[in-house]
Amino acid sequence: MVRITTPELADAFINEQIEALRKQIGDGKVLLALSGGVDSSVCAALLIKAIGKNLTCVHVNHGLLRKGEAEQVVDVFRNHLGANLVYIDATDRFLDKLAGVSDPEQKRKIIGAEFIVVFEEEAKKIEGVKFLGQGTIYPDILESNGVKAHHNVGGLPERLGFELVEPVKLLFKDEVRVVGKQLGLPDSMVFRQPFPGPGLGVRCTGAITRDRLEAVRESDAILREEFAKAGLEGKVWQYFTIVPDYRSTGVKDGKRLWDWPVVIRAVNTTDAMTATVEEIPWPLLNKITQRILAEVKGVNRVLYDLSPKPCATIEWE
Ligand code: XMP
Repeated sequence: MVRITTPELADAFINEQIEALRKQIGDGKVLLALSGGVDSSVCAALLIKAIGKNLTCVHVNHGLLRKGEAEQVVDVFRNHLGANLVYIDATDRFLDKLAGVSDPEQKRKIIGAEFIVVFEEEAKKIEGVKFLGQGTIYPDILESNGVKAHHNVGGLPERLGFELVEPVKLLFKDEVRVVGKQLGLPDSMVFRQPFPGPGLGVRCTGAITRDRLEAVRESDAILREEFAKAGLEGKVWQYFTIVPDYRSTGVKDGKRLWDWPVVIRAVNTTDAMTATVEEIPWPLLNKITQRILAEVKGVNRVLYDLSPKPCATIEWE
């Protein structure tokens, strides 16, 4: 098969897929869980071109997304691509279910299971849906028997009995990006760094609390902003912050503090099986530290994780 490496090849692929999708779907209705990740976004954009309003995208905000992410999905798909988009803010449902749960795998299972429940509820509200759109890509088929699920999260409702529609299932990630760009998706979506399904939930280690989750979200936003300003966006493979569930003493304005540390993680890899640590220039590290200490509530220390994979994993949970 020809690899899609140029805008011209992407155009040809898009036209071919539009025809194939129309043939498969006819005037049927398609439902798609839109996470805002590259794969589901490209799949949705293709389906919008092919069948327009007969596609309903459902964006479930589990409350564990990065700052501005849900807003971007709504803006791009509803306002720019004219999609039929259902936005569900299920933050409270997820955080209530996760309250007091500290085991990482248990957290993942709860997030995955609740996601399916929320999605199913929405699916039942829409009449006459026969198809489920899914951004399965070729590595998903190679790695996990064709199930779009990682680490116990996802794996959409087989029990809904929908026929699958998977227009990018023979593409590799780099090809999906070329197609996404050609479909007019913004670079921030198309070249987005990998983000785990359970989101910030695995970076707010142990039992998630709303205040510590906010510290993860705010510190992550500062890190991303400073990396972008320094021209590192798209050059470093993955970077984010973690807020562990323990405190240490600090001092501010003559008062003793008992607050959390923020840990910075920035790694490079080709396949996520091994990873090396990015050498962040000292002035940049210092600037990020100062901003986090000044702007993020409940934080009194900033640390940089220098551990490669192995023996540390990329995520902390
Ligand atoms: P680790 O921590 O295993 O991460 O070195 C390797 C890559 O996988 C991502 N990751 C996940 N992705 N659901 C996902 O969709 C998950 O539960 C999950 N856990 C880790 C991680 O961000 C890194 O890119």
